[in-house]
Amino acid sequence: MSTGVENLAQLESRFFDEIQSVTSEDLLNRLKSQYLGKQGFISEILRNLGQMPPEERPKMGAGANLLKKKIEEECRTALEKIQNLKKEKKIREESVDTSLPGRGLAEGGLHPLTQTLQEVQKIFKEIGFSIFEGPEIETEYYNFEALNIAEDHPARDMQDTFYINVVAHRGHPESDTKQGRHSDLPLLRTHTSPVQAHVMKNHKPPIRMIAPGAVYRRDFDVSHTPMFHQVEGLVVDQDIQFSDLKGTLIYFLQSFFGENLKVRFRSSYFPFTEPSAEADIQCVICQGKGHKNDVPCRLCKTTGWLEVMGCGMVHPGVFEKAGYDSKKITGFAFGLGIERLTMLKRGIPDIRLFYQNDLRFLNPL
Ligand code: PHE
Repeated sequence: MSTGVENLAQLESRFFDEIQSVTSEDLLNRLKSQYLGKQGFISEILRNLGQMPPEERPKMGAGANLLKKKIEEECRTALEKIQNLKKEKKIREESVDTSLPGRGLAEGGLHPLTQTLQEVQKIFKEIGFSIFEGPEIETEYYNFEALNIAEDHPARDMQDTFYINVVAHRGHPESDTKQGRHSDLPLLRTHTSPVQAHVMKNHKPPIRMIAPGAVYRRDFDVSHTPMFHQVEGLVVDQDIQFSDLKGTLIYFLQSFFGENLKVRFRSSYFPFTEPSAEADIQCVICQGKGHKNDVPCRLCKTTGWLEVMGCGMVHPGVFEKAGYDSKKITGFAFGLGIERLTMLKRGIPDIRLFYQNDLRFLNPL
């Protein structure tokens, strides 16, 4: 009776057949448990040994154990092979094809607002202006009082202000003004004009400066964002006249927009200048005609003019607060919006576009 051992030989060749088609760890585990698992073929043979004739048991037992070892060994080899193939495949997939052409680096440009700012600074520097900066977090004193804007002055409503809430840890902040001291109530500056006061406090005339920077107002629509940029200008000396203001600003506007640009000054009101004016330029779309191809110009609302900045002769009250003698000293100041200048120069219809991170805004010109 050699059936038992023959069975082993059949089982072995069947296993070696089947393992040829195993291509994954899953299939391998399944095959392994079919042969070596608790319910597997080998276990079954060993379990049944007791029913065999005693003389055949040792041979059969030894044979079954030997086959078990062979199967284990073969499974280990197969596992290694499968894992190696997997690794090679991964390396092949992740490797770089060095023969492909490169993609090149995208070239960036300066944001249009930065370009305008740089251009404005260049123009004023060339005619002898220095550049100053002031804090964006100001006090009520510098933003309003030093500029002749009293606490109950209606001009404070013109610029809806972001106040910074300090009531919680300082008691009632307005008490400062009531006691006749400077109000140090903090706020986000609504214009760059407070830099005038800082500069005059720290410098004696003559002064010829511009002060660029961010300003904040509670506004949001096609022509207003809560944060925007201004450039302040201040010239202080003896005998500065309105004609100096006009000459300087016409020179600037023509340098920025074009040599033959028409400029006009319209009477206006600011508490910190007297007289005050608004500078208008001829409309960049209809060239001052109010109509283009018989269509009413929407940009200038057919007036032919566009308002570009506020300006005026420094108010004597502002000089007095700075400690200057307003009988000996005169000067002019102006404030312009960087976003507005950029929109007019480049035909950008909505101020919010500047802040939407559209990468086309950074294309080099
Ligand atoms: N600060 C004014 C504004 O923001 C502009 C201005 C500056 C007007 C200087 C006159 C003189 O509207």
